Amino acid sequence: MCIRFWSICGTTLDDLEAPMRIELNHALCQGHARCAALAPELFELDDNGYVITESHEISAAAEPAALLAAKVCPEKVISVRG
Ligand code: F3S
Repeated sequence: MCIRFWSICGTTLDDLEAPMRIELNHALCQGHARCAALAPELFELDDNGYVITESHEISAAAEPAALLAAKVCPEKVISVRG
């Protein structure tokens, strides 16, 4: 039963255990700086207030802050993927 479920959705147990990643679309950033205000350990801004952090893996502990930053960015620059 489980094997059939996993094969239907295309997800494997390895996928579920893979580290989460922050993905950024820098072209959309308008310098609102909410990401860095909320999670300065995850997001760095340039001198003009635009995010310069590159896409990277994050720890499980950082996931809630990353998800919240993604939610509050009005330009939808940030996405968090597993
Ligand atoms: Fe840019 Fe959104 Fe942060 S617009 S500076 S990624 S809150």
